[in-house]
This record gives sequence, structure tokens and C-alpha cells, in this order.
Amino acid sequence: MTAPPILIENLTKTFAPERGVMDVSMTVDEGEVCGFLGPNGAGKSTTIRCLMGLYRPNKGRAHMFGLDASSRNAERLRDVGYLPGELHFPEMLTGADILARFAHMRGLRDMTQRDELVDRLGVELDAPIHTLSKGNKQKLGIVSALMHKPRLLVLDEPTSGLDPLLQDTFATMMHEAVGEGRTVLLSSHDLAEVARLAHRVVIIRTGRIVVDDTIDALRATAPGSIELDFDHDVDVSALSQIPGVTIRTSTPRHVSLIHTGSVAPALTAIAALEPVSITARPAELDELFLRLYEGEDLQRAGTDGGSEGTAR
Ligand SMILES: Nc1ncnc2c1ncn2[C@@H]1O[C@H](COP(=O)(O)OP(=O)(O)OP(=O)(O)O)[C@@H](O)[C@H]1O
Ligand SMILES: [Mg+2]
Repeated sequence: MTAPPILIENLTKTFAPERGVMDVSMTVDEGEVCGFLGPNGAGKSTTIRCLMGLYRPNKGRAHMFGLDASSRNAERLRDVGYLPGELHFPEMLTGADILARFAHMRGLRDMTQRDELVDRLGVELDAPIHTLSKGNKQKLGIVSALMHKPRLLVLDEPTSGLDPLLQDTFATMMHEAVGEGRTVLLSSHDLAEVARLAHRVVIIRTGRIVVDDTIDALRATAPGSIELDFDHDVDVSALSQIPGVTIRTSTPRHVSLIHTGSVAPALTAIAALEPVSITARPAELDELFLRLYEGEDLQRAGTDGGSEGTAR
């Protein structure tokens, strides 16, 4: 069996007690886009830096294609494209200089892909780095990570600073990369983007992984919401007894609830209360992510119904 593009096992890297990442394990399989989410300071960049061999872990291991992160060989340079969360290009060099350096480092001679990416993203090649806007630096970073067509892309907040048009261009590029069989680890704060692109989502909070599941499983178990209005005062205690139903807010004449699984039992109970209006909305993945970000208990959110091993 070939080694997966990313295998992280019991990785611990702490800077102070409870600061850093603790006992992180995750695998990204060939051809998969794995969204890596979590609040500021959760440990996404620390995990990624350990993976790239930029931080030495206290414990555990981080492998790419079966190679230890500390081994820096030509194979890794060729097979992996890394976009750091903070770009530190030499300020006096131009974009063209930077890309030439990356090409040289990787022994890349065919510049077709570089030229195509520069063109699609509208990268400024001739200006020194210190004169570039944040977004224009970011575009250069994306080209440097993608131009050698690596098998694995490790992208730490790739769309940070990009305008909406370029975010769309980037999403198209990711679809193309996946179509070509590449694997992507994508750290992002853009929840809708991750919901669109990822096959699987890993959420990290205060240094520990709290969710690792497929988008399909999350979508199936993500709670839908129902809003009810009444022209008379109601007692909603019957609704809160129904399995999978959680009352979010209630006043005598308005109830907001969330439900998972089949809506039928809730509807029967709702009908008996004779509402004057009902608004039902399907589960939005980015809303679910947000709740998980905020530390909501998955059981209370009602998402523990369908998929095995969703929450840890
Ligand atoms: N070089 C460092 N020295 C000291 N503490 C660090 C260092 N790098 C990260 N940390 C700490 O480790 C924790 C995780 O930080 P990390 O940068 O991995 O978070 P993140 O999930 O990437 O956040 P963001 O979304 O803001 O980029 C934070 O508490 C941070 O302060
Ligand atoms: Mg980060």
C-alpha cells in the first residue's frame, strides 16, 4: 500500500502550556481536498509548519508521502507545493526573481504552468516585493506553490487578501487540481469556500482536533432550522421532547428550533400547535462549521445522529 500524501500521528508541539497543538492525528488521502478549520490561534499553522519540517514536534510524527517532515530532499520539493500563512519574500526582489528562485530550487524548466498562472491571477512580475499590495503578494505565493504541478498542495489561508473575483479563480484552480488527481490540505477562515471545495473537514480548537469527517456526512447530520409563528400563546414543551429537536428560542407566539434527521415527528407535533406560519431552512454547512468553531457541543447541536466518529 502506498503511503498517504499526509499522515500526522499524535503530533504535539507546544510553546507554553496549552499553547500550540496537542496529540493531533489526521490523514489526508490521495485526491482529497481536506479543509482545515479553526479559530485564530487554534493550531492550524503550527500543525502545517510541523508537517513542512519548519517546527520540530515535541512528540509524534508528521509524514508526507511516507517521508518524515525533517527530511528535505528533491522528491519533497518536487511533489509538494506549500503556501505559508505569512509570506516572507525578500523585499528587494521582483516577482519574476522569486519565481525563478523557486523554479531553480525544484529543477523546473517548463514554465508553461507558471506563465498560465501568472496570466490567470494577474500577477505583477516586474515590481519589487516591497511595493506590492497584500493581495498581489498572495497571488505570487499561490503561483509559487502551484507552478510545478505538485502532487500535494499545502495551503495555509490561500485566499486571504484576494478580491472576490480572484477567490473564484482560485476555486476554479482547486477544482482543476483535484480533477488532475492532486491532493490539497486547505486551511481557511472562509467557511463557504471550504464547504464548496472540500471533501473532508478537520476542525481544530485550542490545539486539539474536535471534528474529522466527510462533507457528505456532515451535511447529512447538519441541523435544519424551523421558525414558527402563532396567533395564540403556545406551550412548546411537547416539541422539546421530540428526539433530534432542540428549541433555540421561544416566546409565547414565536418559536425557533433546529432538528436533525427526519422532520416528520416534529411536523406532527407542530401541526397540533396550529401555527399561522412556518419557515423551514435546510442545513447550511458554513453555519454548522461556525457553531463548531464557537465550541458548541455537537450532541446539543444534534449532529451526532448519523456519522461515525464525527466528534472527538
Ligand atoms: N513561534 C511561536 N512562538 C510562540 N507561540 C506560538 C508560535 N507559533 C504559534 N504559537 C502559538 O500556538 C498557538 C497556535 O497558533 P497557530 O498560529 O498555529 O494558530 P492558527 O490556527 O494558525 O491561527 P490563525 O487562524 O490566527 O492563523 C497560538 O496560541 C499561538 O500563540
Ligand atoms: Mg495560521
